[in-house]
Amino acid sequence: MEIKNSKRLHIETYGCQMNFSDSEIVGSIMAEDGYETVESSANADLIFINTCSIRDNAEQRIRKRLREIKRMKKENPDLKVGILGCMAERLKQQLLDEEDVVDMIVGPDAYRDLPNLIKTVESGRKAINVLLSEEETYSEIEPVRLGSNKISAFISIMRGCENFCTYCVVPFTRGKERSRDPETIVNEARDLVSKGYKEVTLLGQNVNSYSWESNGEQVSFPELIAKVAAVSPQLRVRFATSHPKDISDDLIKTIANTANICKAIHLPFQSGSNSVLKRMNRKYTREWYMDRISTIKKYIPDCGLSTDIIAGFCGETDEEHQETLSLMDWVGYDYAFMFKYSERPNTIAQKKYDDDVPEDVKSKRLTEIINLQQALSLRSNKQNIGKIFEVLVESFSKRSGEDLAGRNSQNKMVVFPKKDYNIGDYVMVKITDCTAATLIGEAV
Ligand code: 5AD
Ligand code: SF4
Repeated sequence: MEIKNSKRLHIETYGCQMNFSDSEIVGSIMAEDGYETVESSANADLIFINTCSIRDNAEQRIRKRLREIKRMKKENPDLKVGILGCMAERLKQQLLDEEDVVDMIVGPDAYRDLPNLIKTVESGRKAINVLLSEEETYSEIEPVRLGSNKISAFISIMRGCENFCTYCVVPFTRGKERSRDPETIVNEARDLVSKGYKEVTLLGQNVNSYSWESNGEQVSFPELIAKVAAVSPQLRVRFATSHPKDISDDLIKTIANTANICKAIHLPFQSGSNSVLKRMNRKYTREWYMDRISTIKKYIPDCGLSTDIIAGFCGETDEEHQETLSLMDWVGYDYAFMFKYSERPNTIAQKKYDDDVPEDVKSKRLTEIINLQQALSLRSNKQNIGKIFEVLVESFSKRSGEDLAGRNSQNKMVVFPKKDYNIGDYVMVKITDCTAATLIGEAV
């Protein structure tokens, strides 16, 4: 039944997991204000676009979507449109000036102000709030779970970033680093378990910088993740993302020693070359990174490893690119997010270096990286044939309603015949076959 006076809000999310988590906070703030979130934009009263600025093509996709929404607004002049997140923060008033379809601009720390901003918009004016905060963590807001499979959920544990990698816009769009009260994090995990959730991912731009102090008591990230894992042995705990400069032995040992913390680490290395890492201001060397991987493999021999890689950063030579390929090969990643360098306005790299690697060279290097990763993923998956993994079932397989799909602790996708199993079950699956992307097996 439709609630009479409630208005319909459609939220579209671009970019990283943090943005998906933020959209759930926004959904909750808006629900308090009488807005129901709806899946389709077709008959919404209000559309929010939670945006990403990390690469130019992310912003171009959003501009394209705004052109479509402009056509929708012609049909329905009462439709209101808000731009949220990183692009709102980066472009501020300029975006209102450039895109007349937009009614409001709201930065990532200003979501509590949404109800006020909407009043302004309803009175026929444009509204903007892009203030960044040093404290805001939305700590006590209970997110609405958007598009949820009711099995796994994100919990945001910290916000902002102060690493200032030279290529990156995030320190400018998301502001200073701040950690969320651990009690509210553990309570959110408990609440999810009571609702039947089986997996949480603790999110932050750099989770290892998590630090909370109150009444002289200090809580570090390894302590926090142990507290969350202690909520229930039936709850799987994952986290993203760690910065290589401070992934500690302490964290690695905590993962190794806690059964329900998943054996998967996402550790972006960006480039395998020390000179490029220096230009990127990554604050570690190739050797340091390799030492961290060796320590992970020593304590967690079966650990799933994934990474982020940038091809064609400013001044990158072919030798430097080869060092990226050789590091990938040495680590043997299970999965990687691979990008061409995209110069972002007002970042340190834009001010300090020339974006001088030609587009065709960037493309060629990216293709080499992607091809190598494809081979590494296939090699890693083939090594799993014959092994038995515990799989948390998340959904039906995309290909067939007869098969279920879920992940093992290492974060690999596993597909197997449904039989009597259901979404949300933990199932022991023996791997019989694979592709580069998926393990295929049978329940045992
Ligand atoms: N160009 C290309 N990739 C980028 N990333 C961040 N900034 C840029 C940029 N300007 C990548 C990094 C980061 C991931 C989230 O996005 O690999 O880890
Ligand atoms: Fe997330 Fe960074 Fe994109 Fe912002 S710019 S949405 S923090 S990936």
